[in-house]
Amino acid sequence: MSGDDPGPMGGERGLVRGIKIAFGVTVLGAAGFAVAYGLGGNTQLLGLGLGVAFAGLAAGLFLWGRHLLPSGGFVEQRPPLSAPTRQRQLLAEAAGGPQSPIHRRGLVGMLVLAAGSIAVAALFPLRSLLSFRRPDPVTQLRHTAWQTGGLRLVTPDGVPVRAADVTAENIQIVVPEGHARDGDAPAFVVRIDGNPVAYSLLCTHAGCPVALYEQSTGHLLCPCHQSAFNLKAGAKPIAGPAARPLPGLPIEVDEQGYLRATGDFTGPPGAGFWSRT
Ligand code: FES
Repeated sequence: MSGDDPGPMGGERGLVRGIKIAFGVTVLGAAGFAVAYGLGGNTQLLGLGLGVAFAGLAAGLFLWGRHLLPSGGFVEQRPPLSAPTRQRQLLAEAAGGPQSPIHRRGLVGMLVLAAGSIAVAALFPLRSLLSFRRPDPVTQLRHTAWQTGGLRLVTPDGVPVRAADVTAENIQIVVPEGHARDGDAPAFVVRIDGNPVAYSLLCTHAGCPVALYEQSTGHLLCPCHQSAFNLKAGAKPIAGPAARPLPGLPIEVDEQGYLRATGDFTGPPGAGFWSRT
């Protein structure tokens, strides 16, 4: 053996160190997963953390099994019906002894730590399954920005709508002032029998905008699957797959003549299938 050759023991020490580093990477990956979850659960970072954790675990186990555990074919001569109790004793002694390939320089402890860190990290997503003090999702979906009450009806461009601007010829699409991007809040206003009325713009079948208005009949058509709603009868569905009326939006005229909502829609806007119990 040359002076530079670390010899079998030196090589084994290096391997053991490498395996510990791999398991350490697993711990870091699992910790990263937990931190990413705590910071909002970015999907890419969660995947990266889990990937690093399992890659470290796989690398450590591979190195351990490939280089430190005995390999090759083994033949043991023994009587066919040897006493199993004695065999168990021998195995326990071999596995627990100082020469055991399993008990090697703290690797078992590091493996337990690595596997345990993954198990602990896996507990974090359980929080997503428990509601704690979060609002009930159905309650959240049932309410829109209109529930604040007093919000002005504005066009998608943000122009407040006056009652005098509402015609019987066409519907005017409106959103709550300051909430133009809320996907569940779009509504429309139109004059029916001389009075401005407002309803949700979202079809109660699958949530498409219902924007094809026929003044002569007061019917509003959804272009997606041809549901029709009769605005002269409370926006009840009269054709197509929609089963619920369009939810109404209670409105009033303020002192300046602008339309304001006095509360939320009269029912869940859009498909609303989640609200059925
Ligand atoms: S979404 Fe309107 S009919 Fe289907």
